Amino acid sequence: MPPSSADLLRWYDRHRRILPWRAAPGRTADPYHVWLSEIMLQQTTVAAVIPYYHRFLDLFPTIGDLARAETDRVMAAWAGLGYYARARNLHACARVVAAAGGFPATLDGLLALPGVGAYTAAAIGAIAFGLPVVPVDGNVERVTARLFALTDPLPAGRRTLARHAATLNDSQPARARPSDFAQALFDLGAGICTPRNPACALCPWRGECAGLRQGIAAALPAKAPR
Ligand code: ADE
Repeated sequence: MPPSSADLLRWYDRHRRILPWRAAPGRTADPYHVWLSEIMLQQTTVAAVIPYYHRFLDLFPTIGDLARAETDRVMAAWAGLGYYARARNLHACARVVAAAGGFPATLDGLLALPGVGAYTAAAIGAIAFGLPVVPVDGNVERVTARLFALTDPLPAGRRTLARHAATLNDSQPARARPSDFAQALFDLGAGICTPRNPACALCPWRGECAGLRQGIAAALPAKAPR
């Protein structure tokens, strides 16, 4: 039995984090805002991203502003976030999107953009365009490994994890709210299903978690020795 997406969404409606790139409940997020946040969040924590996110939107209120900006200004605004290839790809992507008149609304279209890989395409697709996909980042891998008690160590176990993660939105409540469902998974992974000392007693999926039932949740996902 897949876990109940209705349980997760009910929990999210009560406990969702207020984040600057999130639309208010029932509103559609701006693809520019979602894309910018997802690129910044690729290798950086939410807390570190927030001030950069605000500064970027002050300097470049629209994707057209970012596309037209001098590269040096973009790199200066990024300075401190690290992984500078992200900033170069960000600028290249802004030019492509601005020239096209907007973001593509399909996974294939998103995947073709500079700096956008499988995870980021799925995140933007779900959050900004309501595509019925589950973005699988480290948080979602951890939730999935525990929920289904998948014990194959990473990285070899990644394909099995992805297959199970893709079933999480199989039910109607998740299909009706792809953006909220994806972000509910992020919040569950960040706040409840944490790497150490997960707060299983507070988890909306505690009754459905095979890892918890078997007493192995906190040890998952297993990692191959390196
Ligand atoms: N990590 C990556 N994308 C995120 C989002 N939209 N909300 C919270 N954490 C995230």
